[in-house]
Amino acid sequence: MNLTPLRLAQRPTPLEDWSALLPGLRIKRDDLTGSTLSGNKVRKLEFLMAHAQALGKSYVVTCGGLQSNHCRATAVAAAQLGMGCKVLLRTATVPQAWDAATGNYRLMRAVGADIEFVTPAEYQDRARLLAAAAGTRGYAIPEGGSNGLGAFGYITAAEELATQWGDDPPTSVVCATGSGGTLAGLAIGLAKVAPSVPAWGVAVCDDAPTFQRIAARASAEACEWDASLPRLGEADFNVLEGYVGRGYAQSSPEEQVTLMKAGRRGLVLDPVYTVKAFRAVLAQEPAFGSRPIFIHTGGLLGLMT
Ligand SMILES: Cc1ncc(COP(=O)(O)O)c(C=O)c1O
Repeated sequence: MNLTPLRLAQRPTPLEDWSALLPGLRIKRDDLTGSTLSGNKVRKLEFLMAHAQALGKSYVVTCGGLQSNHCRATAVAAAQLGMGCKVLLRTATVPQAWDAATGNYRLMRAVGADIEFVTPAEYQDRARLLAAAAGTRGYAIPEGGSNGLGAFGYITAAEELATQWGDDPPTSVVCATGSGGTLAGLAIGLAKVAPSVPAWGVAVCDDAPTFQRIAARASAEACEWDASLPRLGEADFNVLEGYVGRGYAQSSPEEQVTLMKAGRRGLVLDPVYTVKAFRAVLAQEPAFGSRPIFIHTGGLLGLMT
């Protein structure tokens, strides 16, 4: 590809042994890619923001829920790069008092993002809303940064990971899946550097076919950026269902148990994404094998809401 990514993340992130929690388990600490600019989204933004700058755009526009990690990371990155940022935040109830704002939403405010609230019904039409808000001067980043270019964040993360595991490869690499982009990049990256190691996404909302469709589209787009990449189809993406629990961003008692089990060992998970996926890891899902690597994708501000 002839686009040089920006350097926004603290990387390489550590690959740690967590056999104290589960024998054979290692965790790639992508929750440590930064503090305010943290989690998995930063890796995608290194490519997406570079593209926005290469096109000479002065601001970016993106969308997500009121407590979106992706919108927060985009707002922080834009502020650091001296660019404007507009976020379309989905919420049924518009928050009133800014001093009562929490978590990601509070941080978006703190870095001066231009915030527009949209109802869940309006949000259905988000692609059109994004394009309209971007106009000709702005750069539209899709929900979760999950397109072919964003996938490069985890194509390169897979390369980073393979260097770290050296001659001790895992039986699988597991991540939480909320908009499909992280899984897409991981699967493409592993197909390139370690074809015998499967990537698994644990769905935290929606279902497997939805994410397989999104990931296959991202793979086709990624090949337009770099024709040397393996092109993966829907069936090449492994998505595990069964861990959505009570629904997106809804916690269940079983998830609280997982949160506390990890927390007591000093591994802090977020309540929306990583706790659901980590529950599948602790349940020793047979598909993951006996020596999985879990990607901790961050999201800790979700605990502060
Ligand atoms: C903390 C965290 N983990 C995992 C995910 C899932 O990543 P993706 O949207 O690329 O599927 C997200 C975002 O959706 C996230 O914010």
